[in-house]
Amino acid sequence: MNYEDVMKLALERGFYFPSCEVYADAQAGFWEYGPSGVSLKNKFLELWRRELIRRDGMMEIDGSQIMSKSVFEASGHLGNFADPIIKCTKCKSTFRADRIIAEISKVEIPESADLSEFDNAILQNNIKCPKCKGDFESAKKFNMMFKVGIGPEEEEAYLRPETCQSIFVDFPRLYKTMRGKLPLGIAQVGKSFRNEISPRQSLLRLREFYQAEIEIFCNPTKLDDIEKFTEIENTIIRVQTDSEIVAMTCKKAVESGVVPNKFVAYYLAILTEFYEKTGIDVTKSRFRKLGDKEKAFYAQVAFDFEVETTIGWLELVACNYRSDYDLSSHAVKSKEKFEVMDNEDKVLPHVFEISMGIDRSLYTILEHSMIDDKEHERVVLSIRPYLAPVHVGVLSLIKKDGLKEKTDEIYLQLKRKYDAFLDHSGAIGRRYRRLDEIGAPFAVTIDYQSMEDNTVTIRKRDSMSQERIKISEIDSILARDTAFP
Ligand code: GLY
Repeated sequence: MNYEDVMKLALERGFYFPSCEVYADAQAGFWEYGPSGVSLKNKFLELWRRELIRRDGMMEIDGSQIMSKSVFEASGHLGNFADPIIKCTKCKSTFRADRIIAEISKVEIPESADLSEFDNAILQNNIKCPKCKGDFESAKKFNMMFKVGIGPEEEEAYLRPETCQSIFVDFPRLYKTMRGKLPLGIAQVGKSFRNEISPRQSLLRLREFYQAEIEIFCNPTKLDDIEKFTEIENTIIRVQTDSEIVAMTCKKAVESGVVPNKFVAYYLAILTEFYEKTGIDVTKSRFRKLGDKEKAFYAQVAFDFEVETTIGWLELVACNYRSDYDLSSHAVKSKEKFEVMDNEDKVLPHVFEISMGIDRSLYTILEHSMIDDKEHERVVLSIRPYLAPVHVGVLSLIKKDGLKEKTDEIYLQLKRKYDAFLDHSGAIGRRYRRLDEIGAPFAVTIDYQSMEDNTVTIRKRDSMSQERIKISEIDSILARDTAFP
C-alpha cells in the first residue's frame, strides 16, 4: 500500500487530518491526530519507554516548549539553524534552494553547502522560477526557529526547534538531585517547531511535530568499556556502505570500524530491536553515516536510521554523537558548571543522541502494516496487537431481544482495561471491515446463542477465523494477546 492509501485511511478513520481545515487561511505543515492516531501514538510511546528508557535505566523529563534567547545563542541555533532559500525577483515566491535545484536539474547540493554553490547551480543549469519563469535573487539563509515575544515587553524567546535543549540545560541539576552516574540517558517526548519553507507530505515534513529524544551522557574515554555490549553483540544491524546495505552483527560492526565504538553500537542495536517490535519491516532499514556537509552543525559523527517506504527512504531517527558541543557551550554562556565526577575523574560528559521523529515513525508503521486483502475485498491494518488503536470491537448481531443490553454489559466490563469499540449498527460484515481498517485484532459478537449459554464469537482480524468462547474467557484472551512483548 502506498502514501495515498495511508492518507485515505488516515483521513477516513481518524488517524490524522489537516489542522484548522474549515478555514481557508490554515497554514500548511500543521496536522492533528484524531482518536485512532492518538491511541496509536500513546502505545508507540509506551513501547519506546519499555524498550529504550526502562531497558537502559534512563530518566525522562518534560521541559518547556518556549525557551530563552540565551539557550539558542549557546546551542548555535540562532547562528546556524537555517535553510538556504531563493526568492523569485518577479513573483516573489520563495523556495528551498537545495530542493528546487534537485527537482529541476537533479543536482544534489547538501543544505549546509556555501550559498555560492546554490547560486552557481542556478546559473549553470539555467533554473527559473517554476511558477512564473522569473529569475532568482541570490540564495540567502532563513532561520527556521519561531520567535515569540514574552509578556508586554515582548522579550525575545523561541519555540524549541529540538526537545533536547532542556535536557542539556537541566543536566547539572538532574545529575546532582537524581544521583546520576555516567553513562546516563535522559529522555524527553514533546513537540518541536521548525518554520519549514515547504512543509509537505502530511506527517513527513511538519512545522509543529513530535520528537522522542534521548541524550546519553558519557565519559568519552570509556566508549569501549561498556559491559552491556554483550547483551546485543549478536544483534543484526543494517549499515549502508559505499555500494550496498550490509547486515552485520554489532560485534562485527565494531570490529570492522563501521561503527566507531561499542557504546554507539549498543544504542544502534537497542534502537533496531525497538523498531522490530513496532512491526516496521527492519529488513528495509539502514543506518547511513552522514557526510560532513549533511551532518547537523552540532554533530561530530551522525548516523541516520532510515526506512524504505513507497515514497523513498525516510529518516526516522537521527543518531548524533554531539561530543561536548552542547554542554561546553551552555557552560560558557551560563557560567554554570557542567562537569561531573565519574568515579575519581572530573569530566565534561560527551553526548550521544537518539532523536526520533514520532510522526514519521507512525506513518511508516501504518504503511508497512496496511494490507490490501483483495481476496476478501478488505483493507487490513495488520498492526501489532499491542499498538492497535482499538483492541477489540464489541458488536451485537442485532439490537433486539436483549442482545443490545447484553452487548453493553460486556463492553462495560472491558472498556476500562482495553481500548474497546462498541458498535450496534450496520451490516455485521461492514462493521468487521471498519475494525480491520483501524487494526482491531479482535471482534466479539453477541448473538442469540449468547443469551442462552453465555458464549460469544471472537473473530481474529488477520485470519478472519471465528471461534465460540465463554464470555468469562474474553478477558484472559485479550490480556494474553494484546500485552506488550
Ligand atoms: N536533536 C536533533 C534533531 O532535532 O534532529
